[in-house]
Amino acid sequence: MFDLYPFIRSLLFRLDPETAHRLTLRLLHACPSFCFAKLPSKPVTVMGLTFDNPIGLAGGFDRHGDHFNALGKLGFGFIEVGTVTPRPQAGQDRPRIFRLPEHFALINRIGFHSKGVDYCVARLKQRTYKGVLGVNIGKNAATPNEKAADDYLACFDKVYPYADYITVNVSSPNTPGLRELQTNADLLDALKTRQTQLNQSTARYVPLVIKIAPDLSSDAIAAIANECLEYEIDGIIATNTTVSRDAVADDPLANERGGLSGAPLMPAATQVLQQLQQHLNNKIPIIGLGGILSGQDAATKFDAGARLIQVYTGLIYRGPRLLREIACQ
Ligand SMILES: Cc1cc2nc3c(=O)[nH]c(=O)nc-3n(C[C@H](O)[C@H](O)[C@H](O)COP(=O)(O)O)c2cc1C
Repeated sequence: MFDLYPFIRSLLFRLDPETAHRLTLRLLHACPSFCFAKLPSKPVTVMGLTFDNPIGLAGGFDRHGDHFNALGKLGFGFIEVGTVTPRPQAGQDRPRIFRLPEHFALINRIGFHSKGVDYCVARLKQRTYKGVLGVNIGKNAATPNEKAADDYLACFDKVYPYADYITVNVSSPNTPGLRELQTNADLLDALKTRQTQLNQSTARYVPLVIKIAPDLSSDAIAAIANECLEYEIDGIIATNTTVSRDAVADDPLANERGGLSGAPLMPAATQVLQQLQQHLNNKIPIIGLGGILSGQDAATKFDAGARLIQVYTGLIYRGPRLLREIACQ
């Protein structure tokens, strides 16, 4: 089938990235479902949830929950809304997303632009999307790490009735100090306790997933794996964006602050996934994320131990064809 996306992308790339994102989503809302070829069904059960296919949309694409119903037309097995924070916040100043087309990469320093959890919950109530819906939660930038658990719990309580799983984002490089929470056992303890309470009071179990960074030492990966086993975390997303610029050092935009995503992230993210899998030995499912630009990249993540995968930057560069390529291999 003829792929229109390279032409659409050449037009979108003339606009600044946030305008292009808004316009793409507006077009998606306007397009009827029959414009998009249906992906083959390849059901997989992970964390007690059944996914029609293992391909997910990563956190950050639909940050407020305004678009997941429309994004469902692309055929995702799951969509992750957020990162959502307890109170609304604007994020960092613009420009804050940069394209590095020669590297099939992006740098972003958005810093959790969120309309707040109450807004997001109102959107979640409008759900028509039939796939698995995750909600990715964070803390407000103004909240000190000592009080971070309060922010995560506030979001956790509010989204619990509407989410199929909840992701705890402790790995964005754009909220100062956030990554220190990756090895904070008290936070995991607090969230696991709250999950158990809500499970009892609502008779509904919502899996708890942790999203980690690619910039971790082997010791830190081992520590995170052990904590996740100890606190019976239901899933781990590996990984968020990287602060390393080694793979794009020649690019004029390499020195922009923020997290690097896309093709240059693939080796580091996959290495973290592999090391995690060695520690976890299939006891906790891993969602492979970071640098998937082709069906072959997705296969590499599955070979490294991922049960599900997510994409973000690959969708910007390859369009919906990427999902077909992954689903049909
Ligand atoms: C513009 C942009 C915004 C993002 N915002 C979030 C976010 O709010 N929360 C989150 O957990 N990850 C966020 N991410 C990270 C992605 O979910 C993903 O972990 C990362 O981009 C690596 O995957 P990729 O190489 O497929 O893009 C963002 C990524 C980009 C490019």
